[in-house]
Amino acid sequence: MAATEVFACAKLNLSLDVLDKRPDGYHNMRMVMQTVTLRDRLTLTTGTGRGLEMASNLGFLPADEHNLAAAAALALCRETGTDPGGLAIRLDKTIPVCAGMAGGSADAAAVLRGLNQLLNLGLSRQRLEEIGALVGSDVPYCVAGGTALAEGRGEILTPLPPLPHCQVVLCKPAFSVSTPELFRALDGCRILRRPDTAGLMDALAGADLPEVARRMYNVFEDVLPRRRYQEIAAIKNTLIQHGALGASMSGTGPTVFGLFPGRAEAEAAYAALEPLYRETFLVEAAGAC
Ligand code: C5P
Repeated sequence: MAATEVFACAKLNLSLDVLDKRPDGYHNMRMVMQTVTLRDRLTLTTGTGRGLEMASNLGFLPADEHNLAAAAALALCRETGTDPGGLAIRLDKTIPVCAGMAGGSADAAAVLRGLNQLLNLGLSRQRLEEIGALVGSDVPYCVAGGTALAEGRGEILTPLPPLPHCQVVLCKPAFSVSTPELFRALDGCRILRRPDTAGLMDALAGADLPEVARRMYNVFEDVLPRRRYQEIAAIKNTLIQHGALGASMSGTGPTVFGLFPGRAEAEAAYAALEPLYRETFLVEAAGAC
């Protein structure tokens, strides 16, 4: 048997734009993605002689191929014709589930990276991203992480200059949103407000944190049911009142985040939100996982 420990970092959308619906049912996206230091831990053990086993600290998570971590392991073995001689995946989750932070995709990407190393497969990052795309739209980005533009389904990646160092307060309200439903809602309306993605990328190139934060926007915010939107807006207001340079929803939500230049303001925002929302975190932007 051989074992390794790997980490899976959450992502945030500094911007999220949906361009059009494609014939295959997916949507063409234009998103600026950012890794943060909130992370899950995975332990991979090969050579167990017992097929694929999966366990996690959250009893309600699927432990079969419906879990993206297991799906990634199966895809990697299928695509490369590899037999690990039995595989056990132990997942310790910290990233909130169904939160718009690509937690499941990050776990999948960590399995791909970890098995590539553990089984000495020697696969390139690009090949891992291709296999990741078979598992889910956000998996290719999660393979490398950092700051990147994601286009197409999310698999066409362009690395961007790193987000200047900052503190990030994340807050996930208790409701959950259905990703396909939000895409359908967008299909049924004309998008009136879009992020200034080019301006945001210019601000990254200039390492200008306030300008990046000012340009953050996510088109899904406009199609949330009214009551949900009000809760998102209230959290954004709290973040801004405590000194966030900007605040936005991530992915299809419901996680809201704010970027802070200093620790004191971020701690104050955290202290204001944490009593109201159990899943509130104070983390930092990261260059990679
Ligand atoms: O690829 P993934 O399984 O993560 O996508 C989940 C769902 O999100 C898809 O079934 C689709 O409804 C929607 N989606 C989309 N366009 C994308 C990514 C996801 O319509 N680019």
